Amino acid sequence: MTSFKTLDDLPADLTGQVALVRVDLNLPMADGVVTDDTRVRASAPTILELADKGAKVLLLAHFGRPKGEKVSTLSVSMTLDAVQHVLGREVMFVPEITGPVVAQSIGILKPGDIAMLENTRFWKGEEANDPNLAKAIAANGDFYVNDAFSAAHRAHASTEGLAHVLPAYAGRAMEAELTALEQALGNPERPVAAVVGGAKVSSKLDVLSHLVAKVDHLIIGGGMANTFLAARGVNVGKSLCEHDLAATCEQILDAADKAGCTVHLPYDVVVAKEFAANPLSLRTCNVHEVAADEMILDIGPQATEALADVLKTCRTLVWNGPLGAFETPPFDTATVALAKSAAALTSEGALVSVAGGGDTVAALNHAGVAAQFSYVSTAGGAFLEWMEGKELPGVKALEQP
Ligand code: 3PG
Repeated sequence: MTSFKTLDDLPADLTGQVALVRVDLNLPMADGVVTDDTRVRASAPTILELADKGAKVLLLAHFGRPKGEKVSTLSVSMTLDAVQHVLGREVMFVPEITGPVVAQSIGILKPGDIAMLENTRFWKGEEANDPNLAKAIAANGDFYVNDAFSAAHRAHASTEGLAHVLPAYAGRAMEAELTALEQALGNPERPVAAVVGGAKVSSKLDVLSHLVAKVDHLIIGGGMANTFLAARGVNVGKSLCEHDLAATCEQILDAADKAGCTVHLPYDVVVAKEFAANPLSLRTCNVHEVAADEMILDIGPQATEALADVLKTCRTLVWNGPLGAFETPPFDTATVALAKSAAALTSEGALVSVAGGGDTVAALNHAGVAAQFSYVSTAGGAFLEWMEGKELPGVKALEQP
């Protein structure tokens, strides 16, 4: 396990110090209101711990993709109410990230006070990872804490550059995330199973190629499974399917074979003639019996039960992506059933279960089992890049020599 400094390496009394804390406030919003504050709740312990130790805490975050322009609708202050609500403290908003306005604001703050700096992506140097911007931000702080794993796949000034110009620490959420990910794929207890679902093989090619060499069981679900089934000569009717990826699927299956990884594709499936909630044409059949005018929308009950049995033989599970079209009932059935099996095994202490990615978190919440998983990551793109085996620049920059 790579080592990095954490908040435990800071003095117990931080009075007189200014902490620059990178958090992820890229929150979903509807009509100007934050609809999911999970990321704020994830970083609240870090922010409050630093504040309670007497530091003046300056939050750094991006919001949307303004591409170096000041776009008023993408001011990070849009999240201010949600952040204050979660923290239960007043947070001062500062419309800059460098210079005298920030310095003056720090002068107004008392030890333990919290401020939110403007959207880092309003400045071009952020995404360019300009060392001069990193130095200018650093000039107003004493140390840097990165608590935004979900933005750690970006080599930006506030996610990577700052770690080179200030003493750098992993926040509590980052620490928990890295520990869980290490437990899941870095140094896992075997056998390891991975569930990879979602619509398209093309968006997860690197994930699949990386995982076959790492895990003992690869469970493929969602539209992706159709592409693999078609590559194996199964007629998938009018299912979502990337027929042009047949050769790629064969390569992945060959690589799995060589690495001793068992790939699980469904052998019974739930099909319908139209994609709608509870359609009249709904039926369950063997994968070899899908009619030309039907589409596969979920894994069938027999395959789901067999997958639950596979999980019973495993010690570790990594999950990314739903098994069926889970937003539309009853095509959530397999995802919910397998998620419940994984949650029950985790509760018994038989399985370490780590899940991540936007759809996955939504699916586990829908199944009502997110809290029972060992760890559910708030990251989308960063979680996928980690599953691809890529080094995340924001994490790498925190590593100790
Ligand atoms: C996310 O929402 O996944 C992170 O905040 C990263 O955002 P980005 O994809 O705009 O870099």
